[in-house]
Amino acid sequence: MGIHWTVYPNHHEASLAVADTISAVLIEKTACVLGLATGSTPLEVYAELARRHREEALDFGKATTVNLDEYIGLPPGHPQSYVHYMHEHLFRHINIDRDRTHLPNVHAADLSESANDFERLVESTGGVDLQLLGIGTNGHIGFNEPGAEEDSVTRVVDLAPGTIHSNSRFFESESDVPRRAITMGIATILRAQKIVLLATGDSKAEAVAEAINGPISRDNPASFLQTHANVHFVLDSAAAVGLAN
Ligand code: F6R
Repeated sequence: MGIHWTVYPNHHEASLAVADTISAVLIEKTACVLGLATGSTPLEVYAELARRHREEALDFGKATTVNLDEYIGLPPGHPQSYVHYMHEHLFRHINIDRDRTHLPNVHAADLSESANDFERLVESTGGVDLQLLGIGTNGHIGFNEPGAEEDSVTRVVDLAPGTIHSNSRFFESESDVPRRAITMGIATILRAQKIVLLATGDSKAEAVAEAINGPISRDNPASFLQTHANVHFVLDSAAAVGLAN
């Protein structure tokens, strides 16, 4: 199998390529299920999808979305919560039915039960047609940090110290970054029909090269993607420096 990858000259071109893939799924199957990611990497993808909705009538009216993860511990409506991010950067700009947009509920009394509920919800959609991923500098996908098992499902996880440090750029200080999250598991992600991972910038180069060419290992959770039949890494030249042409 192996991971298929394409290099674009810059972040903008790579983002447009991902927007093309998502648009194609929406056009082919209007009632599709999209698996979505947050973070800084997909921002231009969402801006482009919003533009296509506005200017080219790209239709989200029958689509369903499920997000990879959500922080635990932020008050409802917090600007850095992923539910807020999704509304701000995508949902409020498109014609999606809010009842069909799903993120893990981190405000439930029993968080493990809430994670199980989310796993069942993802299954009940009939399956994710296209899962969009980013990658952490340590190879995490969703918040499956190094050590995550291949058969892991949606669950409560601790964020790695490096992830807390890296995500502190979105908060006033590192101590404000949540320590835990609910994330889809590796097995949850691998059940998607098709997976697109967008990675740009030199900070991702090592994790990307290991994920594609390294051993399949819990040390780099993205390496589990090697076992999937339909994975495409969309890279800019900086993220691809560790790959031979
Ligand atoms: C986000 C997520 C994370 C990010 C990763 C990269 O929902 O699950 O795995 O994709 O941390 O984040 P950025 O894009 O901010 O570099």
